[in-house]
Amino acid sequence: MQNIPHIPVLYREVVEIFKDFKEGIVIDCTMGYGGHSSMILESNPNIKLVAIDQDQTAIDFSTQRLAPYHERVSIKKGRFSSVIKEILGTNDGKNIVGLLADIGVSSLQLDQKERGFSYESDNLDMRMDTGAMLSAGDVVNEYSIDALERVILEYGELRNYKKIAHAIVQNRPFHSAKELSKVLNPHMPKGKNINPATLLMQAIRIEVNDELGELKSLLQSIEEAKFLDAKIAIISFHSLEDRIVKQAFSQWAKSCICSTEAIRCTCGNNHSLGKIISKKPIMAQEDELKANPRSRSAKMRIFEIHS
Ligand SMILES: C[S@@+](CC[C@H](N)C(=O)[O-])C[C@H]1O[C@@H](n2cnc3c(N)ncnc32)[C@H](O)[C@@H]1O
Repeated sequence: MQNIPHIPVLYREVVEIFKDFKEGIVIDCTMGYGGHSSMILESNPNIKLVAIDQDQTAIDFSTQRLAPYHERVSIKKGRFSSVIKEILGTNDGKNIVGLLADIGVSSLQLDQKERGFSYESDNLDMRMDTGAMLSAGDVVNEYSIDALERVILEYGELRNYKKIAHAIVQNRPFHSAKELSKVLNPHMPKGKNINPATLLMQAIRIEVNDELGELKSLLQSIEEAKFLDAKIAIISFHSLEDRIVKQAFSQWAKSCICSTEAIRCTCGNNHSLGKIISKKPIMAQEDELKANPRSRSAKMRIFEIHS
């Protein structure tokens, strides 16, 4: 087996969530390099695992890595928003006891310059699934100025989004992320710990892979799935994603769904799906931060669904 190109974040906390199930299926929506998947399988011999990823490199690597557990693991390629719907329509869907999503990109995707995720890349790609239609080049070179402004403001949260979008339109076509970050550098806010181009690259990546749409769709499927008892753990790296998870979990926990203006409850007061396990997001401890600095922005929230 080659060197493992991604260190799983919050690995102790993740193992703790799934280790005591007596049976059932755990879904790893973002298998990546199989770090969490292998730890979950290793720590609990009673469960089966369905692992999803849309990146063929991750599928190839983890197929080998998870081979020792082949009787208990099934690997599926695709976007988790659609694979989860397929699983829920099968018998496996009835046996789900846990679900993990460690959303965002893997270290390998970031580090492999030819994938185009880094601002030092020689191309403009950023597709997690290299067969997908939309690439970073399409966003940068084809989007209207309004559409670019939306991406830069909503996903990059950059205050001078208008200037940046204008500079892109004035200087395109761009052929590489390197070229893009060089031209835009004078327009980017100067951060102390972060290369200014990083936020722009992140915004384009979120658009290319429809990352927020994927997360919302996953949460919607979980809400509608009518699981009996299941633990749901979502790890996010971006404040927008964490906000989406936090809002969904607090909605799921509500028993009464009447309007806040209603004088008395008419909904039956029995709508809660379960309870929030982590009132505050779980973050990496000091030793993990030292060993894996990329864990610093990881936030995990856990929800327990009850029948
Ligand atoms: C942060 S990495 C996960 C790392 C993994 N937990 C590990 O321990 O190796 C995220 C992975 O999820 C995949 N991914 C992200 N969004 C996805 C989606 N909507 N559908 C399927 N895979 C996705 C990426 O391709 C990447 O390999």
